[in-house]
Amino acid sequence: MARFETIDSVDWQNKRALLRLDLNVPLENGRVRDATRIERVVPTIKELMEKGAAVLILSHFDRPKGKVVAEMSLKPLAPALADALGVDVRFVATDWRDGAPQQAAAAAKPGDVILFENTRFHPGEESNDPAFARELARLGNVFVNDAFSASHRAHASTEGVAHFLPAVAGRALELELKALSRALTHPRRPLAAVVGGAKVSTKLDLLANLLDLTDTLIIGGAMANTFLVAKGQPVGRSLVERDLVDTARGIMRQAEVRGKELVLPIDAVVAPELKAGVDSRVASLAEVGPPDMILDVGPETVEVIKRAFDRALTLVWNGPLGAFEIPPFDAGTRAAAMHAGALTRAGSLVSIAGGGDTVAALNAADVAHAFTFVSTAGGAFLEWLEGKPLPGIKILESTNGAKQ
Ligand code: 3PG
Ligand code: MG
Repeated sequence: MARFETIDSVDWQNKRALLRLDLNVPLENGRVRDATRIERVVPTIKELMEKGAAVLILSHFDRPKGKVVAEMSLKPLAPALADALGVDVRFVATDWRDGAPQQAAAAAKPGDVILFENTRFHPGEESNDPAFARELARLGNVFVNDAFSASHRAHASTEGVAHFLPAVAGRALELELKALSRALTHPRRPLAAVVGGAKVSTKLDLLANLLDLTDTLIIGGAMANTFLVAKGQPVGRSLVERDLVDTARGIMRQAEVRGKELVLPIDAVVAPELKAGVDSRVASLAEVGPPDMILDVGPETVEVIKRAFDRALTLVWNGPLGAFEIPPFDAGTRAAAMHAGALTRAGSLVSIAGGGDTVAALNAADVAHAFTFVSTAGGAFLEWLEGKPLPGIKILESTNGAKQ
């Protein structure tokens, strides 16, 4: 794994830990709908408190674009954090210009947990303005990044601040990186990847990198339709990116030249439209007619995918195989994920999933818990799979605790 310092390399007694979290969680009427990101960082916060630090928490929430937007306040996250930790959490309302964060930091005592307002209320956050980064750095003595899912952003609170303070990785970030390197950097082979979702266009870099790294590449979701068109298959009224048919053909040729196994659907669940309660049927590819839309992989494809999982020792999963939000088009994703979960439980597969809709799909199928690791990250997970360096991680590696 990468070389960077962790919580272990700091004497935390009487220190102010400036802790970057990703509290950008789904809220519904001011209540947290999915607390996974909060639960994952509880060990880091508790450890810092127990070691005698005051914990000063930074996070963004949503995209207020450098302005104070009341609906994007982090305030509702203070009670949610307090619930998860079993201690009081003080919220500091601020526009980042009023001196409130500085006052709160100066008064912080060992064991205190303080949550500051949304860092994106300041325009210097997203522009990674060194002046704002320096201001943030003055709040603490040591910076702790425990926000893997925000580490693809080179923002003041994820990257800039680490130029001005000793910077270390939090426990949740350590776990994410360990899981991801187990999947992609040092996988036990054969390594299989599932790439699903609606569009090829958003996953071109991902497909190129995975074609390099994996032994078997399984393509599902609406993006598979573009590949089917490239193979000359009829897809009726299905979602297709016509301008990417040549690209899809190129990817298939690459796979063949390099002896990689590329798994595409061989049958489908089709319906006249994507709507709850619509009449659907299973069709072989030859039976897909002009009025049909392909909305899920069919049962024979699911069998082919399961056999690919059987042969694999490591699996990386990004994106659903069908339009999983609307039953019965979740069946393919559910069946394949359940099989991956069973193999994982049996000890014959290391399974890592992540990225946007993936976690929602696996939760909906109630199989997320059966995977070896489910990343809390959306965009950051994708960029990692694309082989891109994440600025928030890179700075941890380059500072390497040198400023301590
Ligand atoms: C996420 O939810 O994926 C992260 O918090 C990043 O959010 P962003 O896409 O608004 O930068
Ligand atoms: Mg997002």
